[in-house]
Amino acid sequence: MKNITIICNWKLNGNKKLINIFLKKLINFFKTLDEHKKKYIKVIFSPPILYLDYSYKIINKNKEIYLCSQNVDINENGSFTGEISAKMLKDIGVSYVILGHSERRKYHNESDYDISEKFFSVKNNELTPILCIGENLNDYENLKTEKICISQINTIIKKYGIEIMFNSIIAYEPIWAIGTGNYASKEHINKVFNFIKNYLNSFCDNINNKIKFYYGGSISSYNSEDLINNNIIDGLLIGKSSLYIDEILNIINNYIK
Ligand code: 13P
Repeated sequence: MKNITIICNWKLNGNKKLINIFLKKLINFFKTLDEHKKKYIKVIFSPPILYLDYSYKIINKNKEIYLCSQNVDINENGSFTGEISAKMLKDIGVSYVILGHSERRKYHNESDYDISEKFFSVKNNELTPILCIGENLNDYENLKTEKICISQINTIIKKYGIEIMFNSIIAYEPIWAIGTGNYASKEHINKVFNFIKNYLNSFCDNINNKIKFYYGGSISSYNSEDLINNNIIDGLLIGKSSLYIDEILNIINNYIK
């Protein structure tokens, strides 16, 4: 059995009441799990940034649940009204930051260059970046998946070298699979990750031990088992289904049963 991490990306959803219910049920669930099974599962909770501090206080010293920000600024401090920095996220107990999500690329015009700067700031503050990559439907149909994915990673490597990628997470989230109910096949996911791994291995050895590879896009308790068991993925990045604690518990139970 391999270790699996489940990221719950709540996007712009939720409130204090829902977070309280979700996290308390999750904490109680982990309490009932035997020590042997517990070590295979980790949950990373990513509510809207405003609720990270509130969530931290509920999670307390729980070792199975970690906190993740959905965004960060390039700068660490200064006159940048409305922004939050990696340094501040670290200060309040956050461990991970999602970068380059297609929704931020689309609605906030984030470029690969912006994302590379954010990546640097996150690493510089000893947080773990979760770099989202993925192609749109048109590129998928025109067999450009690998080209797009590599170009999204390359901006970072060219600027900072391969070493900056070590101990980070690459999450493949095809845009055509996000919120559509159409998830990528295991053959497709494995093909994409093998291509990326071969590419990264041309810079250094043993990339498998240095970077984790996650998949995201229309994951639910109906397809999670198939995705985990038949793929080379280390984790799941879940949007809509992650708003429902019972779905998350089903996904975990299906895996460890
Ligand atoms: P859905 O699970 O709703 O398809 O969203 C995936 C996603 O964007 C996670 O970051």
